[in-house]
Amino acid sequence: MIKTIIYTSQTGFTKKYARLLALETGATAFELGKAPGKVKRDEPVVYMGWLKAGRLMGLSRAMKEHRIAAVCVVGMGPQRQGGSQAQGVQRMYHLDAVPVFYLQGGYDGAKLKGMNRFMMRCMTKLTAPKLEKKKDRTAEEEDMLTLLRHGGDRVDKKNLASVLAWMKER
Ligand SMILES: Cc1cc2nc3c(=O)[nH]c(=O)nc-3n(C[C@H](O)[C@H](O)[C@H](O)COP(=O)(O)O)c2cc1C
Repeated sequence: MIKTIIYTSQTGFTKKYARLLALETGATAFELGKAPGKVKRDEPVVYMGWLKAGRLMGLSRAMKEHRIAAVCVVGMGPQRQGGSQAQGVQRMYHLDAVPVFYLQGGYDGAKLKGMNRFMMRCMTKLTAPKLEKKKDRTAEEEDMLTLLRHGGDRVDKKNLASVLAWMKER
């Protein structure tokens, strides 16, 4: 069983998943860079990070400092469509032999600063009006619009089912 989870979180959703996963498995969750001396270099860990325009924050550093056994990608996109975002991360970081899971986090624009705030403002300006104009929005599109306009927390223990099953097999 994997005993350690390493995570990076900017607005708290990935941290929430890391704590939930730790609670479910008995593992210990550490923020990336905050576990010096506590985690051996060759110890297998689950890495959890948040998605920023297709890149997984902290993963490059985590790959240098830890033995990554599995990766959880946390984004604001719908859970059901997260497979392609997970595959994108798997390809980008050459994680051929490492399972990559997707978890829908949430969106909290008020906690963003600097370039991240600017990027999401641009994204909202581009995407939200298009979604608002669309008459036959799917449930996922409706939820994305709500997230972009008002923010929201979509962290759900149910979304951990696949990574939990994988961890239990180890
Ligand atoms: C600049 C920026 C780019 C983002 N790009 C994506 C993206 O490509 N796909 C996605 O699903 N979510 C994207 N998000 C949303 C975050 O991944 C999401 O809010 C996540 O839950 C944040 O996790 P955290 O609270 O642990 O920081 C982006 C957020 C920011 C600020």
